Parts: sequence; structure tokens; C-alpha cells
Amino acid sequence: MVLLAQLSDTHFDMGARNNERAERVMAFLAELPQRPDVIVVTGDIADEGEIEEYQQARAALVADVPVLILPGNHDDRGNMRTVLFEEASSYEPINQVFRADEVTLVLLDSSIPGKAEGLLAEETFEFLTTALAETAEDESVLVAMHHPPIPVQSTVTDPIRLTNPERLAEIVAGDDRILAVLTGHVHAGLMAQFAGKPLIVAPSVSSTIGCEWETARPGHVPIDFAPDPSLVFHSIKDGALLSMFRPIAMGGWLGEPLD
Ligand SMILES: [Fe+2]
Ligand SMILES: [Fe+2]
Repeated sequence: MVLLAQLSDTHFDMGARNNERAERVMAFLAELPQRPDVIVVTGDIADEGEIEEYQQARAALVADVPVLILPGNHDDRGNMRTVLFEEASSYEPINQVFRADEVTLVLLDSSIPGKAEGLLAEETFEFLTTALAETAEDESVLVAMHHPPIPVQSTVTDPIRLTNPERLAEIVAGDDRILAVLTGHVHAGLMAQFAGKPLIVAPSVSSTIGCEWETARPGHVPIDFAPDPSLVFHSIKDGALLSMFRPIAMGGWLGEPLD
């Protein structure tokens, strides 16, 4: 079994609140009897893309397993690269591949520098195609990015979703190894269908945004800061995916295993 913990939309803003929530989630993961094989944070790491915000993120997103980070629309590729990847600043897409036992995770950069909506660039499609070509026939693949490729009844993020989903849909539909597409951006945990596969959107660590039926009038942003942070576990066992949404109580009890 491969166990992946997906966090999203931490929005580090140099304040205490979002930092404490991210630290709480990381502490929960560190205390698990069985550690995840990998932790992935699907974008909007920082709130304004500032260097200091990434320094705060670097201090909080620490684990004894790999922590993979991909950019969202609130992120700045250059500052992210400098602080979190310890590389020279560059605005090329940040695409990554992570291989665990029989599972390949492909992380695609769907951000557009300076814009809120998403796009998969030509070089990002080439990265995905190469990663799939280098993946064994009997492996499972998960594709992760920030922007959902379809509308999900969110008045806030639907207008700034992925703008070029067609080619990705063809690839996802045509490759039996791809089990699901994972995204963030919506600040709500949900499942939908994309190209005949599950599209799993992780809730945000920092806040919850209500969907269409919580929107009172055009322009209203139904944002709720009260709910606890939440994450999604993805377990891949014998080629089958199980995804479980897990809220983490703030200031609470780190659960003792029940005897
Ligand atoms: Fe966000
Ligand atoms: Fe976003």
C-alpha cells in the first residue's frame, strides 16, 4: 500500500493563524502510527507569494517523509523556487514526478504568473507525456495540480479554473494507469468526474469556501474561517484508490490509539 497525504491552500501570510493550522496538520501526520509515504501540498502555499511567507512555510511544512509542493495562483514561482527548492529564481513551470512503490505521482504546475486562472503550458504537457512514457505498464498514476479542470459549482473559483482542460482530458481518459486527478484551489473538499476518472479536490488548511448554493448574490464570497483544517488521505492498494477526508481539530487532542 502507498499512502499519500494531500494538503492544500495553506495560504501562509506571515500571521499566526494559518501557520498554526498548518503546523497542527503536520503534527497530526507526524504522530500517525503509519506515516504517509509522501505529503503533497497542492498549491496556494503562500497568500501573496512573498519570500517571507515561503520562509514561514519552509519552517512549518517539515516532516520525516518527502513533502512535495506545487504552485497555485497565489504563489510566485520565482520566490517559491528560491526558498522552498533552494534553486535560482526562475519563472519556468515547476513540474515534478515522485515515484513510490507501484505508484507514480505527477505534479503539474497549472499556475500562470500574475494571473488567477490556470493553464497547462506546452512544456508541462511534454513533462506529463515523458513521465507517463517512463512509467511501467502495471503502475498506478495520480496527477496533481492546483486548478480543477472543470467547474465544480463554486462561484469563487469556477471563473478562475483551468482554462485548457481538453488535452489533459484526452490523456487522462486514454491511460488506464491514471487513477484520479487531484487538485486544490476550491477551499472545499469534494469529488467530481473528469474524463471518466475521479477528480478529487482537497479542502483548504486555511479556510472553507461555500459552493453555489451558499452564495447569496453575485460577488458574495461565502468564506468560512470557523471549520477546522482538513486534509485528504489517498491510499493505493492493489491498484485501487481510496480517498478519505480527515478534519483535524485545532487546539485539540492528538488522538490516542484505541485499545
Ligand atoms: Fe487558495
Ligand atoms: Fe487557488
